[in-house]
Amino acid sequence: MTRSVAVVTGAAGDIGRAIAARLSESHDVVVLVDIDATALDAAAGALGSSDRFATIVCDVTDEASIRSMAQATAGLGLVRTLVNNAGAARAVSLHDTDGAIWRADAALNLEAPFLVFRALEAALKATQGAVVNIASVNGLAVFGHPAYSAAKAGLIHLTQSIAVEYGKFGIRANAVAPGTVRTQAWEARARANPEVFEDVKRWYALRRIATANDVANAVFFLAGEQARAITGVCLAVDCGLTAGQAELARTFSQSDHY
Ligand SMILES: NC(=O)c1ccc[n+]([C@@H]2O[C@H](COP(=O)([O-])OP(=O)(O)OC[C@H]3O[C@@H](n4cnc5c(N)ncnc54)[C@H](O)[C@@H]3O)[C@@H](O)[C@H]2O)c1
Repeated sequence: MTRSVAVVTGAAGDIGRAIAARLSESHDVVVLVDIDATALDAAAGALGSSDRFATIVCDVTDEASIRSMAQATAGLGLVRTLVNNAGAARAVSLHDTDGAIWRADAALNLEAPFLVFRALEAALKATQGAVVNIASVNGLAVFGHPAYSAAKAGLIHLTQSIAVEYGKFGIRANAVAPGTVRTQAWEARARANPEVFEDVKRWYALRRIATANDVANAVFFLAGEQARAITGVCLAVDCGLTAGQAELARTFSQSDHY
């Protein structure tokens, strides 16, 4: 029997590690892919059970590195699930953004998922597999980080392109758009404002923020058989941030019910 494999990029990060843990329930092997070898070892150590997890150091913005990763992955089994999770934002405003930042954010958040998908496409066809792209609420509306946001908006469109063009092979592609999730990516902002996670809660309908496990649960669902009729969607895991703004609704309606 060929072993079923899930590939998670950016798996040394908090969300990627949570996704890897969840997908290990439904795959024989989960391949943790990350550019940071030290963090990757730490993530694998935290996940335990070494026969269910493999690690591959790979820069997902580098085609040669992706080719090596795809070859190494082929030796582990057949890829049934690809989660393009590696991502990062560099500049907070357009004014702070230069050409190099724009290109770097586009390379990591948009081009890399395309390149990794193409590198694993044959295996995904063979398994009628699933792709889950980790987008962001920043790809749906403006919350700062314009280069990152434009790339994430592009990633949602790429998701639809895969769904439409590869649906005939049985491949499904969906996106997940998290709102704020407390991860290492927030460390600098949390240092600058220790209250940042409390401050943001008022903008969320549920008055709380999502966790890495909340994102992982959505990925697990979209990657699995329960979502066999779902492709081309972007599922917000955002505690209601993009549903609307209670404060604005209160102002517009002059109703205290919001
Ligand atoms: N944390 C949030 O609030 C939030 C909200 C919305 C979306 N997201 C998205 O979720 C995903 C995970 O975010 P996170 O908060 O866990 O971030 P994180 O910084 O904790 O993890 C990101 C991981 O990606 C890896 N990585 C960076 N560049 C890479 C490259 N070139 N090749 C391979 N790996 C690379 C990093 O080493 C890191 O381990 C990202 O796509 C991010 O945009 C996060």
